[in-house]
Amino acid sequence: MVKWKPLLSLIAMVAGLAIVVGALMLLRRPSAVTFVITSDTEGLLIPCGCRTVPAGGLARRQALLDNVRRTAKENPVIPVELANGFSTRATARELLNKEVGDYFSRNGYLVGVGGYDLELGIEKLRALSAKSRFFLAGQKSLEPGESLRLGGWGLGAIGDKGALLRVVFLSQTPPGGATLPDPLETFREERKKHPADGFVIFGSIAPETVAALHAEFPDLIAVVATWQADVTTMPQRAGDTWVVFNGDKGRRYTNLEIRWNGRRFEAWPEGGYLGPEAPSDPAVQAEVQKVLDQARAIDQSALDKLRGAVKSARSYVGSAACASCHQDAHKSWSLSRHAKAYEDLKIDHGEMDPVCLACHVTGLGSDSLPASEKLPFIQGVGCEACHGPGGGHPKAPMEKGEVSAAVCGRCHTQRDSPMFNAEGYWKLIGHK
Ligand code: HEC
Ligand code: HEC
Ligand code: HEC
Ligand code: HEC
Repeated sequence: MVKWKPLLSLIAMVAGLAIVVGALMLLRRPSAVTFVITSDTEGLLIPCGCRTVPAGGLARRQALLDNVRRTAKENPVIPVELANGFSTRATARELLNKEVGDYFSRNGYLVGVGGYDLELGIEKLRALSAKSRFFLAGQKSLEPGESLRLGGWGLGAIGDKGALLRVVFLSQTPPGGATLPDPLETFREERKKHPADGFVIFGSIAPETVAALHAEFPDLIAVVATWQADVTTMPQRAGDTWVVFNGDKGRRYTNLEIRWNGRRFEAWPEGGYLGPEAPSDPAVQAEVQKVLDQARAIDQSALDKLRGAVKSARSYVGSAACASCHQDAHKSWSLSRHAKAYEDLKIDHGEMDPVCLACHVTGLGSDSLPASEKLPFIQGVGCEACHGPGGGHPKAPMEKGEVSAAVCGRCHTQRDSPMFNAEGYWKLIGHK
């Protein structure tokens, strides 16, 4: 005679156990995360920002992100903009920033806020990218970072806890940007407030600051930073810490995979250049092109309004007109970057934007330009940008010129020329 009751309850127990184990398996956490990182996009939508090969742009970035997502399979992929993703001064910045903001929103970016972004104000940033989350440690109205649990399984108090990874966004005061608190101090506090098993730092911080952070916290897993044009073409290892400088203008990316192996965190950084060989997402490409056309129209109409709006006491004659009598000065000038300053604006698509033109051309908006000039300015930083308009000279005298922070600093501001020092720079362009 078979005793059904105990057998049935045994079967029920085994089935129940299987369900519990199955459920716990479902509660397994991914043990790795990949951050796809870019920096200092400054509202730039398309490849730009270098004199040789155009790099960056949202369409290439979208394709990169989609590719990383495909290969990462079940592990989370988190896109990150380190800092200064938005333009603070282009005439069409509203439009450009909206497009960058939409791109961030669509892709679920963590957006670090830098000392230039802050000039827009935090409410403005939020409005530009409603679905993005903005981060900066040491600011009351922003989250300092994000905690992620990697590895292990379970719910609440039950199960293997894996390990807690804390991502902290730090930024320091950039040249000519909003004042930010000391990043070291900020990080010390942040670590006390949010203890974790491992820390990663993202943001806009100078090499000296990264060195100081590493000296004080040698257990950092990685620091991925942007600071002006500083770039590490290969990720650097400092003790146990990976250090990457990701460069400016959204040209480069770093994929940082972090894995909890059951005992400690391991990091795998891998970077690259978003150059012409990088695939482009056609839908993003098409949308960006539409926005750029609109931005171009905004620049054009601002420039048209400037035409002839500036009264000049004397007329401009152009640098070529000085060459016959000041041969040496003209030769040394024509070899300088001043002569190419207008050409270089095209690198960043600023060649019709009065904001950029103000420092990159001569006689902007003057009512006394040479008749041959079709544009409302003379291209480049010509002789007359420093010596004043040359009409009537040599009968009428020219301004002698002065090498000083006051004269050169009109254009060589902290932000645009952080390395500027009058004597050193004059040596490069000196003439008589
Ligand atoms: C026809 C010849 C001629 C041309 C063209 C000419 N200059 Fe001169 N320039 C002179 C002479 C001569 C002097 C010296 C006399 C003087 O100080 O006025 C001079 C002096 C100067 C000085 C020195 C002023 C000072 O106080 O020491 C500057 C700067 C200068 N020129 C700039 C220019 C620039 C810029 C142009 C083009 C827009 C130009 N010159 C075109 C002949 C010329
Ligand atoms: C009207 C604006 C303006 C003024 C005034 C000006 N600069 Fe410049 N300068 C520029 C711009 C713009 C560039 C960058 C050009 C480029 O690379 O496209 C530049 C570049 C330079 C460079 C080249 C730097 C490099 O990276 O090679 C030197 C050197 C320089 N300026 C020195 C001076 C000195 C010295 C003065 C003052 C006597 C001065 N500039 C005044 C706008 C100006
Ligand atoms: C306040 C003056 C000023 C304004 C405004 C300005 N620039 Fe410049 N720009 C400079 C100076 C000065 C340099 C040279 C910096 C140096 O070499 O020290 C420079 C350099 C550059 C360069 C060449 C250096 C490089 O990065 O390769 C580019 C490109 C450039 N500017 C683009 C722009 C664009 C685009 C805008 C408008 C959004 C703009 N600039 C607005 C002053 C200015
Ligand atoms: C970036 C600004 C800048 C530009 C551009 C520039 N100069 Fe000068 N130039 C100066 C300054 C500053 C001095 C005075 C240097 C000094 O005090 O020794 C000077 C000096 C001179 C002098 C000598 C004045 C004297 O009496 O010693 C002449 C001539 C002159 N420039 C002509 C030119 C000509 C011609 C061009 C264009 C081909 C030109 N400069 C472009 C800034 C400039």
